[in-house]
Amino acid sequence: MTEDIDFEIDAEDLPQRAGERTLGSPSVIVDDLHITYRVFGGRRGGTTQTKTSLLNRAINLGRPDSGPITEVPAVRGVSFVAHHGETIGIVGTNGSGKSTLLRAVAGLLPPTKGRVFVSAEPALLGVNAALLPRLSGERNIMVGGLALGLNAKEVRERTQDVASFAELGDFLYLPMNAYSSGMASRLRFAISTITTPKILMIDEALATGDASFRKKSTARIEQIRDQAGTVFFVSHSLGSVRAMCTRVLWIDKGVLVADGDVDEVCDAYHEFVQGRKDASSGAKLR
Ligand SMILES: Nc1ncnc2c1ncn2[C@@H]1O[C@H](COP(=O)(O)OP(=O)(O)OP(=O)(O)O)[C@@H](O)[C@H]1O
Ligand SMILES: [Mg+2]
Repeated sequence: MTEDIDFEIDAEDLPQRAGERTLGSPSVIVDDLHITYRVFGGRRGGTTQTKTSLLNRAINLGRPDSGPITEVPAVRGVSFVAHHGETIGIVGTNGSGKSTLLRAVAGLLPPTKGRVFVSAEPALLGVNAALLPRLSGERNIMVGGLALGLNAKEVRERTQDVASFAELGDFLYLPMNAYSSGMASRLRFAISTITTPKILMIDEALATGDASFRKKSTARIEQIRDQAGTVFFVSHSLGSVRAMCTRVLWIDKGVLVADGDVDEVCDAYHEFVQGRKDASSGAKLR
């Protein structure tokens, strides 16, 4: 819990490693962003429940999910400015709002409050990236390539490159539901980088790749960053965050608690996680 830790680092006091270099122009501006999910039915502590109107209840009568609306405040007042040339790690415990933040920046979720400005169409690469499991890898490359703004001819020209980067072999022609999770995540990565996106967002996607693919994808991310792109990298692996990022955002319960130097934020987050672990094992012992 945030309240339990002695969190001494104030985001404003942190020296920014990326700031020491000349930063490019802003690529993403997030201004007091709030995202609240509205879930129908169910009860959950710590969230707001809205009473449904008589009309709504009548409409929903008999539906298994009918009931009160539960509001889940997943992102609460996050603000930051990202620049071209930065690789920004996003860390935080499960359910802290990392994926929600990325989805909002990618334009997949409308802000409940606040605003997001982007200088280019962000490419979101994540465990939930919208590939279609019943289609073959080849068809998914086409769908993904078109979604990223290429035309059919351009996608066809690049299909073999994407397939060989993802090391799919003959699986290229099989439906994606026959892929291992590592194969699927390699394909997602390869599709997302079919063009050199100005803003690349990676949500855990590298976690399931094997060591050699991780190396290859890390090199590709560095290449994108060097071409003045902005990379957002959500990961539970602090080692990867430290190795790849020039700046780290730490989100806890939807609130941005730190934004700054990679080592300082990672150290503080690591201490926080250790503290939680010790507290929970202490509780069990008692
Ligand atoms: N589609 C959804 N509908 C309702 N609530 C959601 C939805 N997706 C996420 N949430 C809730 O929003 C909060 C933030 O979830 P989110 O997936 O953004 O966290 P995360 O930091 O990415 O977690 P993880 O590390 O587990 O991936 C959580 O409380 C989660 O239960
Ligand atoms: Mg997530």
